[in-house]
Amino acid sequence: MALTLVVNDRRRRVEVDPATPLLWVLRETLGLTGTKFGCGEGLCGACTVHLDGEAVNSCTISVGDVGRRRVSTIEGTGGRVAGAVRESWLALDAAECGYCQPGQMMAATALLTAKPRPSDEDIDGALRGNLCRCGIYDRIRAAVHQAAESLER
Ligand code: FES
Ligand code: FES
Repeated sequence: MALTLVVNDRRRRVEVDPATPLLWVLRETLGLTGTKFGCGEGLCGACTVHLDGEAVNSCTISVGDVGRRRVSTIEGTGGRVAGAVRESWLALDAAECGYCQPGQMMAATALLTAKPRPSDEDIDGALRGNLCRCGIYDRIRAAVHQAAESLER
């Protein structure tokens, strides 16, 4: 079935079963492999994208349920908040193996957009669904704080 999606501000027409998880359409059909597959069951957050700015697990939403909502992936994030996240991630070297990082950064960008000055608890709550097998949660939290500070300047 033909569906039209808006992905990273571009209209994309895809021929897929509407029941296909959005994650597979992004990675396999559109070649946007920055969004990672971890568990496929909504448990790890590796597949986090934005739907109209809200962080969601793309493995648990069917492409047919996306509707008119705008999909943003790590390849398409732009603007002030996403830029601050990218810079703080680089400055603090907030990655180990890197596998969880696109999902972490998408979750952090959604958080900072909704709440520009988050507390530790806010960060832990917003990123709770993003697991890091390297266990670098302290660095990720520090990077979110640094991004928040840079946005205040
Ligand atoms: S791959 Fe989607 S939450 Fe793990
Ligand atoms: S940096 Fe390796 S899984 Fe998070």
